[in-house]
Amino acid sequence: MSKWERFLSRETSLLKTSEIRDLLKLTEGKNVISLAGGLPDPSTFPSEDIKNITDYVLQNFSSRALQYSATAGIPELRESLVNLSNKRGIMNINNENIFVTVGSQEALFILFNILVDPKDHVFVEMPSYLAALNILRSRTPTFHGIPVTDSGTDLDSLEQQLKRMKEENQKPKLLYIIPTAQNPGGTTLTLDDRKRVLELASEYDFLIIEDDAYGFLVFDGEAPPAIKALDKEGRVIYTGTFSKILAPGMRLGWIVADQEIINEVELFKQNVDLHTPSFTQFIAAEAIKRNVIQNNLPKIRSLYKEKRDVMLKAMEDYFPKTAKWSKPVGGMFVFAWASEKIDTLQLLSKALNSGVAYVPGSSFFYDYSGRNTMRLNFSFPNREQLERGIKILGQLIKE
Ligand SMILES: Cc1ncc(COP(=O)(O)O)c(C=O)c1O
Repeated sequence: MSKWERFLSRETSLLKTSEIRDLLKLTEGKNVISLAGGLPDPSTFPSEDIKNITDYVLQNFSSRALQYSATAGIPELRESLVNLSNKRGIMNINNENIFVTVGSQEALFILFNILVDPKDHVFVEMPSYLAALNILRSRTPTFHGIPVTDSGTDLDSLEQQLKRMKEENQKPKLLYIIPTAQNPGGTTLTLDDRKRVLELASEYDFLIIEDDAYGFLVFDGEAPPAIKALDKEGRVIYTGTFSKILAPGMRLGWIVADQEIINEVELFKQNVDLHTPSFTQFIAAEAIKRNVIQNNLPKIRSLYKEKRDVMLKAMEDYFPKTAKWSKPVGGMFVFAWASEKIDTLQLLSKALNSGVAYVPGSSFFYDYSGRNTMRLNFSFPNREQLERGIKILGQLIKE
């Protein structure tokens, strides 16, 4: 217990450090193959283009790029993001529907803070993105889980739960969903299911937060349009990120939403950090304008597809037949279910001793269930590490 704990606010004491993070920290600097991270492959960063653009920005816009700027983002980037959103099928929006944030993590933080009160009924996928669940947990809502199957989120389960809530006079507030190349499952919702989830939102009157972190990273077939693209009522609040399509170190993300929501986000962000760094916004706007991002996407997709194939092949070869795993159509992760007997949190220390790290899957469940699951990253390790890491892990699970 810390010496200063008695001074911490109630909210802060809800933010427990995770035992997993503590365990993984022990591996830093050691010779451990990490399938645990969520890092893009650095070879995909367009460093030379970023260097040229940075020179150009400093030569032409230094007085603005190095200055304070508007809370909602610089006009040039908001404009460019209208165009980039069109590529996800999101039309009929303008600058006023776009809000620039410090990564999409900040977007989620602000949205959950302005929307969720204690006990509000919030739907999340099981499994879902760990760091979004952590923000939500700090809002102390009433969680409702929707299982994710091979074809994406189980909307029959969502509908049943909505019906039951209605009978009990309870009102749903929002659904947080990652419908495209989900983290951690890698699954993608079909076009019909995208329409159905909107119909449910309309019928039962709730908001949808659509996290499209991997919308540009679908490598098997075409990505369906974002749910936001089909939204006629303005119920969908969309979040995007430059982290997977340009570079996470830029710390840039964005929101697409109804202007009224954008105004509320703006009031909140003024209290958080005034605005997103002007400098990286100028660089990103220029990167979109010069098609740097659009031209780089095919390379990222084909690299990740190849790495996914290496991981899946190794899992076929080395994982026991009792295990199951997702076949991601995009993104950076495979999610695996070992047999019920196996506790992946306990297995982690053994795995680390044998030289391989992964994230135990329970963190991706709002109620910490899924104790026999694990998330495996394929974007960062090289091919040889992927194969060796999976081989070691497969042997451990078999033992
Ligand atoms: C589903 C999802 N949403 C949001 C984020 C946040 O990323 P960033 O803040 O870098 O945009 C991540 C990062 O891994 C993610 O996987």
